[in-house]
Order: sequence, then C-alpha cells, then structure tokens
Amino acid sequence: MSSSASTAPTVPLNTGVQMPLLGLGMYKLCGGEAVLQAVDASLAAGYRAFDSAAVYGNEAELGRALKELLPKYGLTREDVFITSKLGPNDQGEGATKGALHSLSNLGMDYIDLYLIHWPGTRGLDVTDQRNPGNRAQSWVALEELHAQGKLKAIGVSNYTPAHMRELMESCKVRPAVLQVEFHPLERQAELRNVCREFGVCFQAYSSLGRGELLTDPQVVQVAENCKRTPAQVLLRWAVQQGVPVLPKSSNPERIRENARIFDFTLSDSDMVKLSALERGHRFCWDPSQVV
Ligand code: A2P
Repeated sequence: MSSSASTAPTVPLNTGVQMPLLGLGMYKLCGGEAVLQAVDASLAAGYRAFDSAAVYGNEAELGRALKELLPKYGLTREDVFITSKLGPNDQGEGATKGALHSLSNLGMDYIDLYLIHWPGTRGLDVTDQRNPGNRAQSWVALEELHAQGKLKAIGVSNYTPAHMRELMESCKVRPAVLQVEFHPLERQAELRNVCREFGVCFQAYSSLGRGELLTDPQVVQVAENCKRTPAQVLLRWAVQQGVPVLPKSSNPERIRENARIFDFTLSDSDMVKLSALERGHRFCWDPSQVV
C-alpha cells in the first residue's frame, strides 16, 4: 500500500541532505502499541521524519515499528529521516557509548541526525564548570561517529546563543541543526540570528506550547478566520518562516490534522498578529543557567 497523502516538503541541511519540514515528535510517546499506531498514522499522512531521544525511552519501539511498517507503505530505511539525542547522563566520556546504544536500540546502521539533547550533564549542578568540557567532549565523540558514517548529521538541542558560539569556536564539524522550543510566545530571535550566521538549521519543538497555546484567544481567532484548527495555525506559522516542526501526538486524527499545513497560507497580517504574541514565555525547560 502506498500513501495517498503527499509527503511533507524538506529543507536543506549544511551536510547537503534534505530534512523534512514536518516530523513526529515522540516525547512522551511510549509503549509498543502506541508507537506502532502513531508511526502508522504518520507514514499514511505523509510524515517521513521521526524525532526520538535516548531519554524518551522509545528508540527501540520506533525501530521495531518502522521495520514492520515501512514495507506496508512501499518505503525503505532511506525514505525516512530519524533523529535521536544523546541523554544528559551520557554527556562527556559516555558519549560514544550513548550514541552507539541509540543505534543499537533503533536497530539501524545509521541515524540521520543525532543531537546533544541538553548543554548540561546529569548529576552536575548547572553552574558546575565541568559542563563546558563535557559537552565539548560529547561533540568530539559525535564528530568521530559522523566521520564513520554512523551519524549522518550531528547537532544540538536546548543550546543558548552562548553555548552555540562556544561550540562554533571549537568544532571541526559544524552542527547541522539546533532544536529548541519555538512558538509565537518564544520566537528565539537571537538564536535564529546565530543559526543564520553559522548556517545551522533552526528547528522547532513544542510548537503547540505543550497544547496550552491551542486555546490562546488570538490563535483561536486566526484559526476561525482561515477555517483551520489552532494546531494547524501554530504549525503553519513556523513552516511559513521555513522552520521545521515536530508536533507530538499519539492520536491518529490529530496526527493527520497536524500534517495538513502545506495546503494553505497565513496572510501577512495573521503572521504579524501571531508574532506579536512574543513575550519570552517558555512551556518547557530553560537552559540559560547552564554554564
Ligand atoms: P495528544 O498526544 O493526546 O494528541 P507540543 O508538540 O507543543 O509539545 O504539544 C503536544 C501536545 O499537544 C500533546 O499533549 C498532544 O496530545 C497535543 N496535541 C497535538 N496535536 C494536537 C492537535 N492537533 N489538537 C489538539 N491537541 C494536540
């Protein structure tokens, strides 16, 4: 069976590879059946990217689900883009082992994109001066696995502008992606500029503000005007700026809804109205205290 939905568009990474603008966020998506159902609905709806992490505890379930489902859609491993992330407990000297563990959990020969999940180290205080050395050591480990072809692209998540500049000074391989919280209330202007300056793809997580932005009166009003849902408006606001999104849902109906964002355009005034909601508000964790 092949997918009737069209496949999500892509953006180029600095590795020369294309990354889908839409992927399934898998934070809190747990249990073999739940993962299988979500991956099935996603592939049918045109998703070709899946965003897991060591700390999500679902790498093995994602690997198994894809092995079972790809043939159903006439697809192979090369047709999907898999992201995973190094857990903060493997930051530093455990990085190579952590990344290889992700690979074996997924049951794959390579991961399309592997990110350092967090600038800090589990068990160290955010002010601990060993944090910079540990994440630098992780980066070297990721560079080596990248050179071996095991990690096709490498990047970081939850880095601040200061963490990004520090990495740019020491890295041999530039990060391909920075993945951070991004929605109208937290537009990350400085980080987006840093990414532009260094040729790093800026990727959004928590576009729906963990679901809380779906009832924001301005978002609801824009949605009513353009006859779309609040989730579609929030996701469209990002992709219309060229920012890839990773909405999480375990519900097949909502997974389909979140994929229907490439067949409409928000007017300039609606884009401005949404962007004016900026107030530096985060729904997720704040890495700014990590030295
Ligand atoms: P569920 O998995 O039950 O669909 P974010 O990506 O910002 O972290 O938001 C994810 C949250 O939003 C999850 O709780 C998810 O719940 C919910 N969600 C995802 N898509 C939709 C949608 N289209 N409509 C309503 N809620 C959604």
